[in-house]
Amino acid sequence: MSNALNIADLARPEIVAMKPYSSARLEAPGRGILLNANEAPWSLLEDETIGLGINRYPEPQPEALVAGLADLYGVATDQVLVTRGSDEGIDLLVRVFCRAGQDAILHCPPTFGMYRIAAQSQGAEIVSVQRSTESGFALDGKALVEALQGDDRIRLVFLTSPNNPIGDVLGRDLLLDVLAAAAGRALVVVDEAYAEFSKQPSATELIAKYPQLVVLRTLSKAWAAAGLRCGSVLAQAEVLSLLRRVMAPYPLAAPVTAMALRVLQPDMRERQKQMLEELANNKQALLQVLQDRPWIRRLWPGAANFVLLEVSDSTGLLAHCAAQNIILRGFPADPNLRNCLRISVGGRTELAALATALDSWKDDSA
Ligand SMILES: Cc1ncc(COP(=O)(O)O)c(C=O)c1O
Repeated sequence: MSNALNIADLARPEIVAMKPYSSARLEAPGRGILLNANEAPWSLLEDETIGLGINRYPEPQPEALVAGLADLYGVATDQVLVTRGSDEGIDLLVRVFCRAGQDAILHCPPTFGMYRIAAQSQGAEIVSVQRSTESGFALDGKALVEALQGDDRIRLVFLTSPNNPIGDVLGRDLLLDVLAAAAGRALVVVDEAYAEFSKQPSATELIAKYPQLVVLRTLSKAWAAAGLRCGSVLAQAEVLSLLRRVMAPYPLAAPVTAMALRVLQPDMRERQKQMLEELANNKQALLQVLQDRPWIRRLWPGAANFVLLEVSDSTGLLAHCAAQNIILRGFPADPNLRNCLRISVGGRTELAALATALDSWKDDSA
């Protein structure tokens, strides 16, 4: 991005002009005799650790959590915005950078569905660089760069690595090409929700150099904490300060922050490493269970904690598994993924149950 072009020039002018809300907790830190935020002086749950201090509004961006996540992802603390999952990060980006009816996002379906939902909620246009079935849903880098260069409505390019539901990773050369094509015209958002499962280096190491780069990370997948709702938008500080303008004043509930901090302690980091190893082994075991099934037409092992299959009768197989209490993911609304199923890597008991269910699946059309 040329230095002459400010990130703020890409944002909605009304957001840039907006005077940000200033919460009580932003104006004064949560120490001293606090009579400034209309809170209760005590918590009803004072005797329970989890309830300690919940009578007070939480820190908007808890310093310790921001520092922990910056350390985890290898970025500076002013390059971290903690969100309620990556879903919130996606929504904030679209709300700040896309004017309704004028600006657009670019995405490459089949991919994660929330880019489209966020754009539609905002009234933004959607430019799709479709991954073709014939190519095995490979990302068409050339078409992507051409689409970006040929359409100046595009403000956000969503790339996903590993991609959901294909599991493929984004090559560094292609990312650099897209960043170059986006310079001065759009932000490039690399959603790395599943990055810890893959060997691909994270795009976070490029943030210092590229003001147009945004990386999304989450504790939902490889940190086994989807219930926490804790994600991070990683980008240069100027991007994050724009996002904060439209974010709720107190997005992170105090118990969430406390648990997220616990998840990031050294003993948990050690356990997480073991969990990733176990999941990698379980994925190999899942692939073995799937081997030589005549009704599997195509299989994408991918680099994440799931695999994608094309089968001869996905509706039948989904129902067959559901009858045995095993829930797989189908894509009935997406014609490109007709007859595709996504299977998450679970524990060994779950895998054994899946294997039994698959053994009893009789597919007449296979
Ligand atoms: C690619 C991708 N990004 C983001 C998310 C949402 O993550 P979070 O739980 O952090 O909102 C998902 C969830 O499935 C996903 O697959």
